[in-house]
Amino acid sequence: MYIKKIKLENFRNYEKQEIILSENINNIFGDNAQGKTNILEAIFLCSLGKSFRTNQDKEMVNTCKDYLKVETSFFKKDREGKINIEINKNKNFYINDIKVKKTSDILGKIYVVLFTPQDINIFKSEPLRRRRFLNIMISQLRPIYVHLLNKYNKTLEQRNNYLKQIKYENKPEYMLDIWDEQLADIGKKIFIYRKEFIEKINKKIKDIHLNTTQNKENIEIKYKSNIIDENKYLEKLKKAKNMDFQKGYTTIGIHRDDFEIFINNQNISVYGSQGQQRSSIISLKLAEAETIYDEIEEYPIILLDDFTSELDKTRIKGFLENIKQNQVIITSTEKIMLEKKQINYYNINNGKINNMGG
Ligand SMILES: Nc1ncnc2c1ncn2[C@@H]1O[C@H](COP(=O)(O)OP(=O)(O)OP(=O)(O)O)[C@@H](O)[C@H]1O
Ligand SMILES: [Mg+2]
Repeated sequence: MYIKKIKLENFRNYEKQEIILSENINNIFGDNAQGKTNILEAIFLCSLGKSFRTNQDKEMVNTCKDYLKVETSFFKKDREGKINIEINKNKNFYINDIKVKKTSDILGKIYVVLFTPQDINIFKSEPLRRRRFLNIMISQLRPIYVHLLNKYNKTLEQRNNYLKQIKYENKPEYMLDIWDEQLADIGKKIFIYRKEFIEKINKKIKDIHLNTTQNKENIEIKYKSNIIDENKYLEKLKKAKNMDFQKGYTTIGIHRDDFEIFINNQNISVYGSQGQQRSSIISLKLAEAETIYDEIEEYPIILLDDFTSELDKTRIKGFLENIKQNQVIITSTEKIMLEKKQINYYNINNGKINNMGG
């Protein structure tokens, strides 16, 4: 699939701007703080209904205005479509001009794989970042997953509040059971989705990584959850009760989930070199793109923010050569040149876009 056109109105430093994209590689280049990442953010917003940079929607509205609008027109194999988002006091979504109720209703229309400079350290960062990676991928492919996550987080918060009341206000312990069943029931479903998708990524990443390392590195991704077996979720939660009373929060569950990457049976967050980590994140992103393709039989759009800042030329080339027919949108401070690849260039200067063609 690919995005044909994006229209921005009062989106961050853009007043009114329209961008026509090519279905192959697009390079948005320009100096710092001109609005390159903002464009990727607008596309991501139309795909996932939220920003990848902030949880505060208002931040995306131009500081001198009180609303923003984004319109993204896309093409898929057999149809075209349009997503509109308006943010003012409320947030409104439209699919092909028809208003939809919830953020999650727009999921599964525009599929993206996002790669930002922060991803480079994903294996050495806190587990939250790796859970985010899983959440973004799974939400696009299984929109119900977002409902489950929201419900889980709400229930978890209530359970944690109650645990604090037990600890500090001597509330009765047996009342905790109300939350346990609910939490285990939702958590179990999330666990199953994560297990399924890590397995899918695992199948893809092996060949990709062997290919990019001249068959030297055998890569494996492993799901790390303190649940282990979904059928024992409730049992585990109950067993951890004394610990939870002591700590005043829930110590067991999918909110602590993580995954690890092994190269030739060694955990790369511990033993991996800088270079191996960089190559592994590239393989992980390519595996994500292929997993999405397998699910929907459309190539997801690949968004590469500041791609050249953290990666050397060989890796950048390796990455782009391994991309199939995906539309790619790359931001960079310098123009990206690639042999044998046609690139459409856009220069950005202070919220104004100049389409320079290929
Ligand atoms: N809500 C907003 N209203 C107006 N301008 C904004 C808003 N949010 C951000 N900006 C402006 O947008 C610009 C930053 O945009 P962006 O992050 O896309 O830059 P960039 O071109 O990707 O820069 P870099 O190369 O440093 O990553 C800054 O000039 C910032 O002041
Ligand atoms: Mg940027």
